[in-house]
Amino acid sequence: MTIQPNSVTPLKAEQMQECNHQFLYDVAYGLSSSPKRLQSKYFYDKKGDRLFQQIMALPEYYLTRCETEIFEHKTAQIAEAIKVDNSAFDLVELGAGDATKSLFLLKYLSEQKEKFSYMPIDISGNILEILNDKLHANLPELEVVCLEGEYFEMLNKVAKLSSRRKVVLFLGSNIGNMEFNEAEVFCAELRKKLNKGDVVLVGFDLKKHPQTILDAYNDASKTTALFNLNLLERINNELDANFNLQQFEHYQNYDPLTGACKSYLISLADQKVSLADTEIKFDKNETIYMEISQKFSVSDIENLAINSGFMPIDTIMDDKKWFADAFWLAT
Ligand code: AVJ
Repeated sequence: MTIQPNSVTPLKAEQMQECNHQFLYDVAYGLSSSPKRLQSKYFYDKKGDRLFQQIMALPEYYLTRCETEIFEHKTAQIAEAIKVDNSAFDLVELGAGDATKSLFLLKYLSEQKEKFSYMPIDISGNILEILNDKLHANLPELEVVCLEGEYFEMLNKVAKLSSRRKVVLFLGSNIGNMEFNEAEVFCAELRKKLNKGDVVLVGFDLKKHPQTILDAYNDASKTTALFNLNLLERINNELDANFNLQQFEHYQNYDPLTGACKSYLISLADQKVSLADTEIKFDKNETIYMEISQKFSVSDIENLAINSGFMPIDTIMDDKKWFADAFWLAT
């Protein structure tokens, strides 16, 4: 087992190229589909990371505060759910970001002298560097392996690095960025990567008053709008495109029946945008579907667990019962 403390896996030049090809392919494919769409995983460049950090601090964006409350005040309960005897484990976090919430757990587990390593996975190398510095400053003794890339590719890497029991964190309602059936496929795939006795902890944003949900994505400061528009800017910068950001407007929608909260960019005019060597036509009022932030009921969560091969063990909620962290055991 080779664990290098505090290292960010560097990308080789060819891999960078490959990433950009994939990005161009996905954007070209999405914008030539009908209806047009882009993938929200591409929101997170340097500016996107910063905007998302601003979103997490918005008064309307309750998700982060609710889950932080769980991690800050119910830390012992979380630790109980992930511990088995005194066995060593790897704490793997999918989409770790700046890991503000997990840090409460990491500190607690370290104080309890648990034997574990922390393996944050994120698509943004930029945020992993920030995280790595933060961990080094707060928990210099902690074994950390930062993994930059797609979840499942990095999970394969994790399996090669160590054979210890796995505890997988998938927090922040990141799972909400998948359509319902996609989430089920994802969880079943995740189950396949794990062994009996491994545990996952998944953060879900719960269904609540529709206005509360809509407001979280329709913030008064329009930061969420900038967050969406920033993807067009990223495409301009990285893929040789010429989107005019003034000609697109953010539109948010929440359907309380399905729990789907979706964001769109609306073209404000008939317009043509060039992308690499192609041209993309937009009609006035045409939509680009940008992101889904799916909301769940408690029974949705249980069904998702069972349908993907996990056994639901425990669910911890914040005091308002707006957010749930669900513990599932791989059986
Ligand atoms: C990081 C996917 C959980 O969907 O709530 C926040 C991203 N988008 N505001 C979410 C986001 C707009 C966020 N997740």
